[in-house]
Amino acid sequence: MSFNLSVIPNKNIILAVTGGIAAYKSAIVVRRLKDAGFDVRVVMTAGAQAFITPLTFQALSGNPVHTELLNPEAEAGMGHIELARWADLLLVAPASCDTLAKFAAGLADDLLSTLYLASKCPVWVAPAMNQQMWAAKATQRNLNTLVDDGVHVIMPDAGSQACGDVGLGRMPEPEDLAQQVTQYFHQAQRATAEKFGLLAHQHVVITAGPTREAIDPVRYISNHSTGKMGFSLAAACYAAGAEVTLIAGPVSLDTPNGVRRINVSSAQEMLKVSMQMLDSGCDIFIATAAVADYRVAEVAEHKIKKAGDELNVALIKNPDIVATIAQQLKRPFMVGFAAETQNVEAYAAGKLVAKKLDMIACNDVSRADIGFASDENAMTVFFAESYDMPKRDLDKASKQQIAEQLVQAISEARNQQPIPSRKA
Ligand code: C5P
Repeated sequence: MSFNLSVIPNKNIILAVTGGIAAYKSAIVVRRLKDAGFDVRVVMTAGAQAFITPLTFQALSGNPVHTELLNPEAEAGMGHIELARWADLLLVAPASCDTLAKFAAGLADDLLSTLYLASKCPVWVAPAMNQQMWAAKATQRNLNTLVDDGVHVIMPDAGSQACGDVGLGRMPEPEDLAQQVTQYFHQAQRATAEKFGLLAHQHVVITAGPTREAIDPVRYISNHSTGKMGFSLAAACYAAGAEVTLIAGPVSLDTPNGVRRINVSSAQEMLKVSMQMLDSGCDIFIATAAVADYRVAEVAEHKIKKAGDELNVALIKNPDIVATIAQQLKRPFMVGFAAETQNVEAYAAGKLVAKKLDMIACNDVSRADIGFASDENAMTVFFAESYDMPKRDLDKASKQQIAEQLVQAISEARNQQPIPSRKA
């Protein structure tokens, strides 16, 4: 399961392809931008069409390809002004010498040069050409003009060229270009979330996954928790602008984008790191971890040998992490989880009070279709009495969607009874 925010919703890219052998690489750029969730429209100059056909780009982008400026049919579809308004970014790759010169001079004699002048969005150019043409004074002069005009220039790579020369002028690899575009939108998205997100200026600490309680050097007691709910919450909190620390038990999940992850194994380690996080400043503590209730009283120094028909291992109670944090003086907003197989709501409401939580999300793990190993969940959320917020049912949905609804609920409760933010 992937938690990186690689999918950028509702962003439009115009990929303009100009005449150069690197045009073949642009087909892959379209693929990668589509993979990242962008809507892509391709504009081609006449020169580009000598290297690769519009049909290729139409098939890959799923949109008509724009090639003409003064074609009544094309203008009736999406004309150059509309196209310019549609775009969130204009990426010219490859950008030929001729195109750079036109942009620098402000010419408007074809669709792309006109589009450039009509665009308000950021313009990126990825020049690709013979190394001698790249080094030519006129090209460098035009590039300087474009940089002064606010155009972002993606520097060409050095290496062997299609013409046999070796030097600067190769278009960067398509994956690299798509990655740079995606990163730009991620950073913009994050900057907005950090200012205006539901959890802006909050440090959220989340425990996730199971704990492992050693029996001897090779054996342990654990449970089936996969950590998916906690990791989904970490991604959702980050998307809502929070700084997120994820204290993870042993799970095989990728760390969500932008999230700080600290791996732990036992409940005692999880408590120790949680307390450290509290000391360093924590505004919201979310306990999704399935912490082992008991640990082995005395962990054997060496592997226990097979002997009689029975083996008795004495267990002692583990600390309750969420309850311990809730008792501290510098108490964050506390969110607990309850996984039950019967009397789900009654048990959850009891834990809310007993553990002194602000909010608890409970689910029925006896249902085979949701919970532990599933990618989906359904929950009921209870708030402490002081919040005057009725219980809230979250219908079956992906753990990511449930996480977003939980973030919403946390933010509403926080707004009702604001606890001063660490950074406000
Ligand atoms: O008591 P129970 O394990 O059902 O409570 C569940 C909630 O308490 C979860 O939020 C879980 O992460 C937290 N918990 C904890 N430390 C424990 C046991 C549970 O933080 N030792």
